[in-house]
Amino acid sequence: MPKTALAFTVYPLARRVLFSLDPELAHELSLSGLDFAHRWLGGLLPAAQPISTSSPVELAGLRFPNRVGLAAGLDKNAAHIDGLSRFGFGFIEVGTVTPEAQPGNPRPRLFRLPKAKALINRFGFNNQGLSAFITNVGRSEWVRDRRGVLGLNIGKNAKTPIEQAADDYLKGLTGVYPWADYVTVNISSPNTKNLRNLQNEQALEALLDQLKEAQAQLAQEHRKAVPLFLKIAPDMDETALGQLTQVVRAKQIDGLIATNTTLDRSLVTGLPHASETGGLSGQPVHLRSLQTVRQLRTDLGPDFPIIGVGGILSAADGLAMREAGADLVQVYTGLIYRGPALVAALAERLDR
Ligand SMILES: Cc1cc2nc3c(=O)[nH]c(=O)nc-3n(C[C@H](O)[C@H](O)[C@H](O)COP(=O)(O)O)c2cc1C
Repeated sequence: MPKTALAFTVYPLARRVLFSLDPELAHELSLSGLDFAHRWLGGLLPAAQPISTSSPVELAGLRFPNRVGLAAGLDKNAAHIDGLSRFGFGFIEVGTVTPEAQPGNPRPRLFRLPKAKALINRFGFNNQGLSAFITNVGRSEWVRDRRGVLGLNIGKNAKTPIEQAADDYLKGLTGVYPWADYVTVNISSPNTKNLRNLQNEQALEALLDQLKEAQAQLAQEHRKAVPLFLKIAPDMDETALGQLTQVVRAKQIDGLIATNTTLDRSLVTGLPHASETGGLSGQPVHLRSLQTVRQLRTDLGPDFPIIGVGGILSAADGLAMREAGADLVQVYTGLIYRGPALVAALAERLDR
């Protein structure tokens, strides 16, 4: 039996056990288990490298071995890259990292909505800070051997006033730049107070001016060009999104990642945990993410790099995201509900 098929048969069993546990504990145990298996049972797992496809994808000056990536937030401290690379991702995005370590919100802060194939989280950028993050990135063999594309996702500390957010993003960009293939500027988490205000025209212009200037300086200093991607929310109306795309074009942002989690609860009304505070991900965000990507593609034209994320739980969902205009896709909640086999299914279906 091929090794990816083995993972396919084993995950539904593992899921039964994991879904009987507290969601955050299940998350921690899964990552520890994956690291253990990667280290000691490597022969039983698929290779720690991207699933190969008939043709790599050139985007934003990077070469992606396949179209499927890990979305940010699953490995916030970049501590599990090698274990996760066994899933076969063409690119792995880790973070969100903030300049200083912070605990995030009190537990419980992660909730399952199995009937809707969804999660609600209000983690609030819990992470060990920039210096631990960079140490972890430096330890990864997958990174060292440049097997796939590495995205490093940066944010702001909760205690930093929103007016000084740019300082945190500049620290993040400077710290991760030497290691990153691309850097994601996350201004769309609903769990850091006022963060999404940075998506508004004037605030965004001011932030991007500073980041683009720093990017140009860092490119000279490190003698490499690292594209800057912006990660946006699915909750903007057409007008707000139109304004955002104008700023993105004017400031020459290199790509967009759409979308983060949603605040909308209309598709989960009445389900247990539906009224928990936080961002909703999985199936109920899919249509919003598709609509966002569709408008971005229309506004920004055929060549602008767009990564589609949100509620991709099957190869068909991935194809829908491609048809909406995404060049590449990322998954998070789909991995919880479908397991690692989702990556192979998507890589194969999107291989064209
Ligand atoms: C538990 C959890 C934590 C997340 N943390 C982050 C994060 O730190 N940074 C970020 O940019 N996105 C974060 N996200 C958003 C995901 O990267 C993704 O954009 C969103 O969940 C939609 O995709 P999905 O439906 O495949 O999960 C998080 C999502 C979840 C479910």
